[in-house]
Amino acid sequence: MCGIVGYVGKKDCTKVLLDSLQKLEYRGYDSAGVAVFENGDIRISKSKGRLAVLEEKLKKEGWINGSCGIGHTRWATHGEPSDVNSHPHGNARVTIVHNGIIENYQKIKKYLEKKGYVFESQTDTETVAKLLDYYYDGDPMETIRRVLGEIEGSYALGIMFKDFPNTIYAVRRDSPLIVGVGDDEAFIASDVPAILKFTRDYYLLDMDEIAVLKDGNAEIYDVHGIKLEKQLLTADWDMEAAEKGGYPHYMLKEISEQPEAIKTTIIPRINNGMPDLSECGITTQRLLNYQNIFVVACGTAMHAGLVGKYVIEQLARIPVTVDVASEFRYRNPILTDKDLVIVVSQSGETADTLEALRLSKRMGAETLAIVNVKGSSIAREADMVVYTHAGPEISVASTKAYMVQVAVFYLFAFELAYAKEAISEEECKRLTKSLMDIPDIINVVLQQSEQCKYIASKLINSSNLLYIGRGLDYALSMEGSLKLKEISYIHSESYAAGELKHGTISLVTDGMPVIAVATQRELFDKTVSNVKEVKARGATVIFVTHSYKTVESDVADYKIGLPTIDDILMPMPAVVPLQLIAYYTSVLKGNDVDKPRNLAKSVTVE
Ligand code: F6R
Repeated sequence: MCGIVGYVGKKDCTKVLLDSLQKLEYRGYDSAGVAVFENGDIRISKSKGRLAVLEEKLKKEGWINGSCGIGHTRWATHGEPSDVNSHPHGNARVTIVHNGIIENYQKIKKYLEKKGYVFESQTDTETVAKLLDYYYDGDPMETIRRVLGEIEGSYALGIMFKDFPNTIYAVRRDSPLIVGVGDDEAFIASDVPAILKFTRDYYLLDMDEIAVLKDGNAEIYDVHGIKLEKQLLTADWDMEAAEKGGYPHYMLKEISEQPEAIKTTIIPRINNGMPDLSECGITTQRLLNYQNIFVVACGTAMHAGLVGKYVIEQLARIPVTVDVASEFRYRNPILTDKDLVIVVSQSGETADTLEALRLSKRMGAETLAIVNVKGSSIAREADMVVYTHAGPEISVASTKAYMVQVAVFYLFAFELAYAKEAISEEECKRLTKSLMDIPDIINVVLQQSEQCKYIASKLINSSNLLYIGRGLDYALSMEGSLKLKEISYIHSESYAAGELKHGTISLVTDGMPVIAVATQRELFDKTVSNVKEVKARGATVIFVTHSYKTVESDVADYKIGLPTIDDILMPMPAVVPLQLIAYYTSVLKGNDVDKPRNLAKSVTVE
C-alpha cells in the first residue's frame, strides 16, 4: 500500500517523480504528492485524488523546478483521503514520504504535542516527520538513527532536510524499497516498474540500512554509518512489459499474456519431460520428509492454493490445509519440522503472508514461497523460492499471477506424487506434457471473449449473483466471484453447489444470475441437479462446462464451452472466461477496471 519515489539527477525532477509514481498507482490512488528542492527550499504540492489531479494542480499553480525530490501515491490507512492527509508531510526543515504503518504513533504524537508540536493531519506519518524535526541537530544520519530507535511498525521512508539541499535519505523496515542507479542520477522506489523508464539497475535496500542519494549517486550505509558494498541487480523486465501495449486496460493485457506467462514459468522447470524444481531447493529427500502441507496466502493467491490443495491431495495423498494468512498467523497453528508451509504471493510483500511465513519459520516448519516479484521480502525470507515468471502485473485484479501460481502447484504436485511413488514416471510425464499443452488451450479459450462480453452485458444490472461449483470447480468459483465483485462492485458469493440447499438457496429470486462451473466429469451430473434447483426458482444460469456437453434449456440460459482435457488441469483454462466476464462487466459498467475503488495491489499493512 502506498508507493514512494525519489530522484536526484539532472532531469526535471517533478516530471520524473510523476512518471515514476504513475507506475506505482497500483499501490494506492487516494492522493498523490511531491516535494522538490527549488532554489534551496523544499516546495510541496499534493492533493486528494489520482495523480492526474496533482499534475493539473502543478500546471495551474506552478511547476516545481528542481532536480531532487520525493513523491508519494497513497492508499489511506490513518485518516481519510484528503489534501491534508496526503504526503509528503513535514515542515520547512524536514519533509518525508512514507509507505507502511507506524504502530506507536499515538504515543509519540502525545509526547510531541506536550513539546508544543501541532498536528495538522490524522496520519501516522506526520508523527515521524515531526519526530525527525524534534531530534534534528544538524546531523541527518544521527537524527534518522534516533528516530528509527523509537518508531515501531513497518515503513519505507524518503526524507529530505532543508539544510542538506539536493540530498535524499531513505530507510526501510518491512515495507519494500529499492535504490535505482543510472547515469549521473539515482532513484528510490517502492517497486521496480517505477524506475524502468530511466534505468534497470538497482540495489535492494535491506532492513535498517540508510541510503543517501546526492550528486547523481547513491550510497548505502549500515545503521552504524559504515558504508556498504551492495550487489547491483538488473531488472529483467523492460518498459514495454510494464506498459499497456495497445490494450485498453492492463487487466485485459494481462489476461492475454497468460499463455506466455505459463510457458516462461514452467519450461525452465521441466527436464526430460519430468518436473524439476531442484534449482529452487526442492529435492526428493526434502519432499519425502513432509507429513503435512500448509498453504498460506491472501485473496486470489489463496484461491490458487485451494487448487493446489485439491491437486496435491489427489495425486500425492498428503494432507494439505489452506489458510488465509490473516487467520493463520493468529490461530496458533500446529507446525513441526516435518511440515512444509507454502506461502503464495504475487507481490512478495503482503504483510499478513510475510508474517505467516516468519511464524512458520519460528515454529520450525520448512517454508517454500511461490512469488512473482524478485528480491521481495517473502522471496528473501523463505527457505525455498519458486519464482513465477509472469512479468509485472499492474492491474489491481490479479489474473496472470494466479495462473502461474496454479501452474507451479501442478509442477510441485507432480514432482511430489512421483517422489512418493503415488504416480509412475510414465503418468508423471503424461501429466507434465498435458500441462505444457495448456498455453495453446488457453489461446483457444481466449477466442470466446465476445461470448463473455455478451454474458457480461446480461449481468450489469444485477445487484447480486452467485457462483457455484463442486470440488475443483468450487475453488474456481471462489476466484470467479472475487474477480467479479472487486472490479464490477456487484455483490457476489461463491458456494459449494451441494451446500446451497442448506440456506443460501433462499436468496435465489427471479432473474438472479448464477454462474455454475462444471468441469469435473465425475461431479457433472450432481452439479447439473443443483443448477436445476436454482433454475426452477427463477435463476438465470450461465453454465461453464466442456464444449461437448449438451446443456438443455432447463439447465442453462447461456453456456461457455471449454476444451476437454484432464479434469485435474481444467482450472487453468476454466478460469479464463471467469476473468473475462468480470473484466467486461466492469468495462460495461464504466468502472475504472485497473484501479477499483478502495483497493491497492500490494497490501503491506495487516
Ligand atoms: C485480487 C487480488 C488480491 C491479491 C491479494 C494477495 O484480484 O489481487 O486478492 O491476490 O491481495 O496479494 P499478493 O499475491 O501480492 O500477496
